[in-house]
Amino acid sequence: DEQRGRGTPGLNFERVQPNTLDAVVVPKGYEQAVVIRWGDPVLPGAPKFNFDKQTAAGQAKQFGYNCDFAALLPTHGGNQLLVTNHEYTSETFMFKGYKTDNPTEEQVKIGWAAHGLSVVEVEQVRGSGRLKPVIGRQNRRITMTTPFKITGPAAGSDLLKTSVDPTGTVALGTLNNCAGGVTPWGTILSGEENFNQYWANAGQTAEPVKSRAARYGITSGATSRKWERFDKRFDMVQEPNEVNRFGYVIELDPHDPESMPVKHTALGRFKHECANIRVARDGRVVAYSGDDERFEYLYKFVSKNKMRKGNSRTARRYNMTLLDEGTLYVARFTGDSPPSEIDGTGKLPSDKRFDGSGEWIPLASGNRSFVPGMTAEEVYVFTRLAADKVGATKMDRPEDVEASPKTGKVYVALSNNVERGVTPGKESATEPNPRNNNKHGQVLELTEHDPLSLRFTWWLFLVCGDPNDPNTYFAGFPKDQVSPISSPDNVAFDQYGNLWISTDSANALGINDGLYGVPVDGPERGNLKLFLTVPRGAETCGPIVQERLITVCVQHPGEVDGASAEKPASHWPDGGDSQPRPSVVAVWKPGRHGPMKIGS
Ligand code: FEO
Ligand code: CA
Ligand code: CA
Ligand code: CA
Repeated sequence: DEQRGRGTPGLNFERVQPNTLDAVVVPKGYEQAVVIRWGDPVLPGAPKFNFDKQTAAGQAKQFGYNCDFAALLPTHGGNQLLVTNHEYTSETFMFKGYKTDNPTEEQVKIGWAAHGLSVVEVEQVRGSGRLKPVIGRQNRRITMTTPFKITGPAAGSDLLKTSVDPTGTVALGTLNNCAGGVTPWGTILSGEENFNQYWANAGQTAEPVKSRAARYGITSGATSRKWERFDKRFDMVQEPNEVNRFGYVIELDPHDPESMPVKHTALGRFKHECANIRVARDGRVVAYSGDDERFEYLYKFVSKNKMRKGNSRTARRYNMTLLDEGTLYVARFTGDSPPSEIDGTGKLPSDKRFDGSGEWIPLASGNRSFVPGMTAEEVYVFTRLAADKVGATKMDRPEDVEASPKTGKVYVALSNNVERGVTPGKESATEPNPRNNNKHGQVLELTEHDPLSLRFTWWLFLVCGDPNDPNTYFAGFPKDQVSPISSPDNVAFDQYGNLWISTDSANALGINDGLYGVPVDGPERGNLKLFLTVPRGAETCGPIVQERLITVCVQHPGEVDGASAEKPASHWPDGGDSQPRPSVVAVWKPGRHGPMKIGS
């Protein structure tokens, strides 16, 4: 088995066996340690974390909840800046005695402070891969009250004006930041994903607000969080436009702690999983982003202006405007096999490939709309409605998207879709989404001649699941040798061009989530190897794969059915009878002279 792994630089490790342990499991010969946990200090004056005595003021200076995306950026003095998203809060796990129908104001405000992002300087311990947080000058917390500048063609639109902000240009806070990306100019992009869950009473609004809200899944009555009781901006009857200021890609310059982060309207408004940048030969930049919901779409943005080289503050300031002017596109996929050969089980069609071609359909460019019946501002703010009108392809939950720095091919994680071919009125299997009741997802490989191309070809690289299931596919690699995988979520590349995939919902296979490495080229293409698993109830997020260090975010450990702060299902990472805490973990391979190369 392991012989097949030899010869692929970066992937020479003994694969981890799937398990259900309440632990982070790494390959033999590797070590791991927590970098930072929910509640650990980020800013000066942060109180020591005390699960039973939390305060909103303390949380605003501490590491937030449910870390998802993470980035490590080089900084002065050899340390790195760890930038992390805090996607959402789970109050029943955060507080003992939490009453879902009657949260206290302090609990709600702790929730606001536990969302957002953290910027934390980290120092590598000499001779080890261990990373230690430092209360550095650039440390920062972004929360639900941090001002964001709204930029791009919809900034200042009537659709974005509220009673508190009649200019429609400054929003307070960011929500449900899921995955993200590091830009070539050293800033962070982060997607506001399931923002719909925070707004109440859409059912009592008038048209067209009501049907627009419905298309985004905004709650018709009270929310389960009850935030609307403590801030009227979460009540759509009182503030119908506040929700239109969420659902964007945000950009943060972590090197400048005083800078105001921005929300880029030109990339459209939907449940942005992420945004990842490629630079075209002429210097224009391209951003890919998935709308993570069942039957939603894949998008691409092409900038009008060209990137300025260098990491100076001036270059960064300029480059932070690149995502404000350009053209937004949505993907339409065409399969090359007869639809009759796509039977919904995942059985390969007669050409032995789920593959075909596709095109990027323009939605809007600057103030110009390409969608009949919609203004450009409407396209940017109600992008799902625009994509519906142009016949985009409904996908199985488009998650992270990343281009290989070696080959330029673009990889898209399509997480799962248990409603396909099951829920009445919903679409059945198509060649790019070839299984009905799709529990395990697929990874799509998209080939563009050039990042600016408006046409592409595509091929399903992985059709995930248990390799013993005949209707899974691992790029044609012998399936008796690969690791089982379900629900791909985040993707990353190592320096050798291997793809790394983290998962969210491997419990569909009865195993814990994990991080996998797989070659996308050469004789080992498709030889998927499990590198790490996370504790019970957690998902694996935000992988960073460096030459001698891997980090992952362990999100929502212990979040299994029936568990709560009274009945914790995990005691990771603190052990004993402690409460589980979402954390960032570093993994390395110790050697005589310090960490060795990963997979060497
Ligand atoms: Fe927050 Fe799409 O995962
Ligand atoms: Ca085909
Ligand atoms: Ca995700
Ligand atoms: Ca996820």
